[in-house]
Amino acid sequence: MDIFTARALQRVQLYSLPFEEVKDVTEEEQNDFLEKLVLISKSNPYYASQILQKLLNIWPTASDEYYEYLSEWIASIPLSPTSIDTVIYTIGDHLIHMKECPSVIASGGTTGNRTWEAALALSEYLQNIVIKGNVLELGCGTGMVSIAMIMKNKSLLTNNHLFITDGDENVVNIAENNYNLNLPNNANVVFQTLFWGTDPVPQVDTILAADVTYDSSVIPSLVETFVQSGAKRVLLAATRQFNN
Ligand SMILES: C[S@@+](CC[C@H](N)C(=O)[O-])C[C@H]1O[C@@H](n2cnc3c(N)ncnc32)[C@H](O)[C@@H]1O
Repeated sequence: MDIFTARALQRVQLYSLPFEEVKDVTEEEQNDFLEKLVLISKSNPYYASQILQKLLNIWPTASDEYYEYLSEWIASIPLSPTSIDTVIYTIGDHLIHMKECPSVIASGGTTGNRTWEAALALSEYLQNIVIKGNVLELGCGTGMVSIAMIMKNKSLLTNNHLFITDGDENVVNIAENNYNLNLPNNANVVFQTLFWGTDPVPQVDTILAADVTYDSSVIPSLVETFVQSGAKRVLLAATRQFNN
């Protein structure tokens, strides 16, 4: 049930939820999940109703409460691709809440309104290593990578700075809001617009970047940004595309 719950909180497509594996869970586990479903319904009642309808087919003894919730949510319509949902990711031991548009690919000229796969992989990786010194995140999108890193290494900000940047000003605002949603203190965190090859680059020890390499024409300015930052270490995560 834990995997099912984590995936539902992350808004994976319905076909990716392992319904078969939760057929025989206990009544207590069903009730715990209902609580999560109520949480999901606050920002996306349509998704909650879709899951509940399927669960009621495999949980024949479910109580009236489940049907009451279903009748409340059943008339909801799907969120538009640009509507904001509150998605909850499980990274290491942490739950990270993100206000984002999970089903949008690009909008307003940027792809930064949702969290991408490589950000999740890099965030997981950062749970197992120690980062020291000043850090710069490039193409931050929703801010997932920086948030996940600080959740694991809160003391980093005692003596160092974290620069959370993106070429799109609106995206930087999204990242800042998400940061403040998850972490109580943003002292020594700088949110700034940094378009590679154009804007000044802070001096740092480490660069983080996830899924920013899909357009090969910008790679020279990306690499130039690495060089200008003086970073000794660049942690770059990219989703591999298979054409065949
Ligand atoms: C696919 S999104 C990835 C966002 C986030 N890192 C993630 O993995 O969820 C790529 C991000 O890079 C930013 N970006 C693309 N080209 C850029 C450039 N030349 N300078 C700065 N940011 C850029 C976009 O605005 C967008 O937020």
